[in-house]
Amino acid sequence: MRMCLTSDIGGYYSGAIPEGRDQFGLKGDFVTSPEISQVFGELIGIWFVTEWIAQGRPSRGVELIEVGPGRGTLMNDILRTIQSFPAMADSIDAIYMVEASRELRATQKNLLCGDDAPMTESKVGYHSICRNTSLPIVWTETIKSIPIVPEKMPFIVAHEFFDALPIHAFECIEVPPNQDAARSDADKSSPSTRTTKPTLQWREMLVSPTPPGSTHDSLRTPPSQSRETPPPDFQLTLAQAATRHSMYLPESSPRYRAIKSRTGVGALLEVCPDAALYASDFAARIGGSAQHPKAKPSGVALILDYGPGDGTVPTNTLRGIRRHRRVSPFAEPGLTDLSADVDFAAIAEASMRASEGIEVHGPVDQAAFLEAMGIRERAEILIKSLAGAGGNSPDSPTDDATAVADDAREQRESAPADIERAWKRLIDRGPGGMGKVYKALAILPENDGRRRPVGFGGAVAA
Ligand SMILES: C[S@@+](CC[C@H](N)C(=O)[O-])C[C@H]1O[C@@H](n2cnc3c(N)ncnc32)[C@H](O)[C@@H]1O
Repeated sequence: MRMCLTSDIGGYYSGAIPEGRDQFGLKGDFVTSPEISQVFGELIGIWFVTEWIAQGRPSRGVELIEVGPGRGTLMNDILRTIQSFPAMADSIDAIYMVEASRELRATQKNLLCGDDAPMTESKVGYHSICRNTSLPIVWTETIKSIPIVPEKMPFIVAHEFFDALPIHAFECIEVPPNQDAARSDADKSSPSTRTTKPTLQWREMLVSPTPPGSTHDSLRTPPSQSRETPPPDFQLTLAQAATRHSMYLPESSPRYRAIKSRTGVGALLEVCPDAALYASDFAARIGGSAQHPKAKPSGVALILDYGPGDGTVPTNTLRGIRRHRRVSPFAEPGLTDLSADVDFAAIAEASMRASEGIEVHGPVDQAAFLEAMGIRERAEILIKSLAGAGGNSPDSPTDDATAVADDAREQRESAPADIERAWKRLIDRGPGGMGKVYKALAILPENDGRRRPVGFGGAVAA
């Protein structure tokens, strides 16, 4: 997944798709919520404002951090919204964008800073200045490059980022007695685990080349995956022996161990170690950690993505998307978007393990979150102001940067009916609807559960 999506020799986000083709939008492969409606980013901006109020309206030290910012649309909408709250706008010291793709970094810089704005390189990353706020923007390839400063108050957003992080998939098998089962050929240095009775062990699903001359039929590409792509170059096969990952990842959480004892042979599991790394990093920035003690926890993280909201562990969710259709994730690597369901419970677990100074709320359905944030009311205002302006642009994007963004977003609303369609799509609770499939999870400073954030059952602080 990592190679296919972000490798510097040409991944899906890092240069493999031909020039003139785009990942996002109607003519691309998928459409994301910020690209569907400006209201999405506006409500996330408002959510940050509610947290800034609840955490004592600091006059400085706020850092906006977005991981996986795509075209930069979401950050643009968040910044425009926060500008309406000057005291919060003044409290922002810097904006950080964590983006692995050079091409998308350039797209984001052009939107937020202007085509002509220079981008300079330093040890930390790439720098430019936001044209509407004059704030410094720093791009890094991973969150580890952003300094952790305990006095800072990080406001972090991750929208459709975690689903792009690489997963490992495992299946539980029964190993007969007296078989040296738990060691791979490459790992003869570890102690022998020869068994005297049958044991249940996890085996990793590995990606291997398909035999020459394979067809969709010979590979049994599921009918649910469009067969417009050529037969897959790769397939998943079960490892013959234990791998390093199968020996520790499925043992790393009581949730996984329970699946092994409950389901036994045939149980499946997906684990995303990078998701745990990012969640731990967010938690340490907000709540402090042994390595980065923080006198007073502060800041928030909002994670929006798709995956089960009931604590079940994702299985069999690796998918390929091309031109808005499901395709085999193993066909045309680099030209196909890859993603997997996000394990929100694992994110919650990793954050709480990383810091005692945080608490986690959610996940809640996107529909519930956006409704509590006032999506209906905001859309009604937009529609009214559009009618008042005689059909011209609604009461917001008037600056050049947004005009550029709107040109690029063929999905964004331009008439009352479009606005109506767009916001309703974001909260659609029907089968496969975005309001139900997508979830929101918040990490905030530990407060003994006394204060719930807005959108998660809480109200705006006085
Ligand atoms: C599905 S897009 C989401 C874009 C945006 N958040 C939106 O909703 O429109 C995933 C984004 O994450 C970036 N990305 C994917 N894997 C990454 C990684 N390992 N590190 C940093 N950025 C990554 C991609 O380049 C892209 O900007």
